Amino acid sequence: MSSTDMNTTATTPFRQIGKGFCGSVWAPDRPGPASAMKREDGGPLRSVAKDSTRHITIERSLKDAQGRLNLAQRLNMPQHRELIRGDDSEWWRLRSARFPPTYQPCNTLITERILPLERSARDKLVDLFCPARSRATIKTSRKDEDCLIRPYLGRRRANFCCPSPFFTLRNKPLLVHQLDGMGLPIDEYAGVMADTIAILYWHARSDANDVEFVLAPPRSGEEEDAFQSEVLGAHRLWLLDFDCVNHITLDDAGIEQAARAFFRNDPFYPRPDWEHETDRRLWEVFSRRFLESSTVILGDARLARIMLDRLEELGEERRQNRLDLQAVDEMEKLAV
Ligand SMILES: Nc1ncnc2c1ncn2[C@@H]1O[C@H](COP(=O)(O)OP(=O)(O)O)[C@@H](O)[C@H]1O
Ligand SMILES: [Mg+2]
Repeated sequence: MSSTDMNTTATTPFRQIGKGFCGSVWAPDRPGPASAMKREDGGPLRSVAKDSTRHITIERSLKDAQGRLNLAQRLNMPQHRELIRGDDSEWWRLRSARFPPTYQPCNTLITERILPLERSARDKLVDLFCPARSRATIKTSRKDEDCLIRPYLGRRRANFCCPSPFFTLRNKPLLVHQLDGMGLPIDEYAGVMADTIAILYWHARSDANDVEFVLAPPRSGEEEDAFQSEVLGAHRLWLLDFDCVNHITLDDAGIEQAARAFFRNDPFYPRPDWEHETDRRLWEVFSRRFLESSTVILGDARLARIMLDRLEELGEERRQNRLDLQAVDEMEKLAV
């Protein structure tokens, strides 16, 4: 753990930097490398203890695959630091006052903080994507300083004309056509994601359910081996959020479980069911790389092929459902 921000004598207040179903995420209110604290103060069925165990397993798999197998370069995971129990009275006695008064001790997972994008990148994103009337507000809002980008390679909006009035830079999704339009290396992101799920499935034996990817700055010392972009600056892909990840067996049942999670997840991965030329190409890049990295991990591509076949089948079902919905839409229009 960092000796500067979580030690017993530090007094910097904690500020909320994120929120999910599991609870709220906090960090010392100051710039620079720090720890993040995920508090178990959200939905009753979520557990940061489970998050912690899965995080450790996946971090170990990722280190092994990156070091020994040369996979998923340019992917980072926040370093796991400590799981604090709500009844750890000594830890809370020394730190409770750094949370706002209504926040009681609870189970809390401490990991490395993923640092937000720098101001110059944030300002450029606001100029590109935020409605003009909100730009000045967002540029000066504290909350929007905690800016991480969610790269949605599996989503595109055909007529992207009306940006949402509820613009925020927190967990800002960028859709595949926006990423592409900014000249970001979507093929390379797809390759890293393919390596990552191959590692999560075959090495960590998990279904990768509900994990998140964000684009964020590299750690100090990683700048040379990072993605470069005029808008975002140097960045890496980061993987986070493991509390919904489940164990799988390496057989048909495990593959079914992982394939369903693939489509249930936020649309980070390229999808097999889109007609746009770029999306088809991206699916090719992703699936080819998935076969390669799976072979590196397992010695052959047998399970990876079964997985891809299943993803393509489920994709086809989704496409058919979309077409059916469109047909109903058309009929309703004609009936009016
Ligand atoms: N280590 C971290 N560094 C920076 N931000 C984080 C970190 N962990 C979580 N966050 C932020 O908090 C949000 C919620 O955390 P997450 O782990 O996804 O919780 P949940 O399981 O409730 O979805 C994330 O989407 C992200 O924006
Ligand atoms: Mg989450």
